[in-house]
Amino acid sequence: MPPTVATVVYLVAGLLFILSLRGLSEQASAQKGNWLGIIGMVLAVAVSVAGLFGFERGEAEAAGATTNVLAVYGGAIALGALIGGFVAARVQMTAMPELVAVLHSFVGVAAVLVGLGTLQEAGAHIDLAHYVEVQLGVLVGAVTFTGSVVAFAKLRGTIGSRPLLLPGRHVLNLALVGGCLALAILGWGAPPDRSFSYLLGVTGLASLLGVHLVWAIGGGDMPVVVSLLNSYSGWAAAAAGFMLSNDLLIITGALVGSSGAILSAIMCRAMNRSIWNVVFGGFGAEPAKASATQAPAGKVRETNVAETAELLRTARNVIIIPGYGMAVAQAQHPIREVTDVLRKKGVNVRFAIHPVAGRLPGHMNVLLAEAGISYDLVKELDEINDDFSDTDVVVVIGANDIVNPSAVDDRASPIYGMPVLEAWKAARVVMLKRSMAAGYAGVENPLCYRENTVMLFGDAKKTVQSLLAALQV
Ligand code: TAP
Repeated sequence: MPPTVATVVYLVAGLLFILSLRGLSEQASAQKGNWLGIIGMVLAVAVSVAGLFGFERGEAEAAGATTNVLAVYGGAIALGALIGGFVAARVQMTAMPELVAVLHSFVGVAAVLVGLGTLQEAGAHIDLAHYVEVQLGVLVGAVTFTGSVVAFAKLRGTIGSRPLLLPGRHVLNLALVGGCLALAILGWGAPPDRSFSYLLGVTGLASLLGVHLVWAIGGGDMPVVVSLLNSYSGWAAAAAGFMLSNDLLIITGALVGSSGAILSAIMCRAMNRSIWNVVFGGFGAEPAKASATQAPAGKVRETNVAETAELLRTARNVIIIPGYGMAVAQAQHPIREVTDVLRKKGVNVRFAIHPVAGRLPGHMNVLLAEAGISYDLVKELDEINDDFSDTDVVVVIGANDIVNPSAVDDRASPIYGMPVLEAWKAARVVMLKRSMAAGYAGVENPLCYRENTVMLFGDAKKTVQSLLAALQV
């Protein structure tokens, strides 16, 4: 394939990636955006593989080499596609952020391996610009790899969601970065073997840095961390693009890197979090104070399905707040039926969506749309938060952190400052959950103890199905 054809196809693929991002920014065009991205990626892989066959240099006649390349790359692509397809088809919606974290870790590993391979191949002949690219690629790649592994373990609950706030943690981070810099300087101009050993040292220190940076961030901020690691994986891919002199990898990496950074900044603003806290591993974060773990004042009042049905039947305005528990229980279908019944009785029913409800951005919107709940009834936090004081009943289904009043009135709480849905301002709140267990951030929720709150214990799906039956009588 002549280089001009490859260049044009790379440009088309780059353009398709940009259009894909544009499409993904709105729910209605997201599917189209996804397809554009898939087409761009197929083109990119096809052209890169064609380049490996030597077509662009007119060397296709090297038949033996071509067969080897076909066997190695064809086999790797087929195996990767098979594993990827199998995992993606089986993954639960609630486990999607974990899968994303794992995928980021692959990009990190790839950048590290490309860096090690580039230095070994170039040996003493490497120029300074290339040497710097290798060091940066390995540094960002290793931080992305181990940071993503820790994020995966936190999201999965394998390690606790509490931040690990070591004394002198910022000095430790600085020392690790300084160590990487020192090893990179020592390696420049050193004999190839020693230079390679120094690069392995950079890999080790950067890996430690990734673990420490992410471990120091609390569970409540994990959505931003995953978005930031997405950005890092983009920069790692761009660095690999420089090392391999592959323009498309540079473009794609830069697109992922910059869009991930913008998303992280938007999410930080939505959650009223400091981006520096997330970038510098718990910068400005304090260990959780006692109030976050002590049982709040007040008492728990339990209700039942019959009482809740009566409450809803006589209400004029009802707001339903779905959270992670609704996703786990798959209660979106019966709740749509409850909504239909109540609306037929003239009750004004709406849904309030918190930007980080569930475990990934847009999680609740997707589930409600899947159940056939009209977009008109679904309101974002900014649109509906002022309406709670005029609401008769709020039904909280498997949500916890996103309705926690401590975020507003308890400075000692780890989630203080995060915007929350102010459910407690309604006349009555019914909370559907299985127990008094805390939510993802691991903090007590005083809303469960308020005078106007009643608890309806049980699995959300079974409870909503019983509620539906009671309302239909
Ligand atoms: P959570 O605070 O995690 O609370 C969910 C509640 O659902 C739990 O308290 C649990 O209580 C209940 N639950 C679980 N299974 C249930 C079932 N089968 N039936 C009924 N209830 C059930 O969820 P949230 O309010 O949606 O807040 C989201 C949290 O996740 C935030 O802290 C957010 O920062 C974090 N997070 C969000 C994302 C994104 S991007 N959305 C990504 C990662 C983390 P019981 O065990 O007592 O039933």
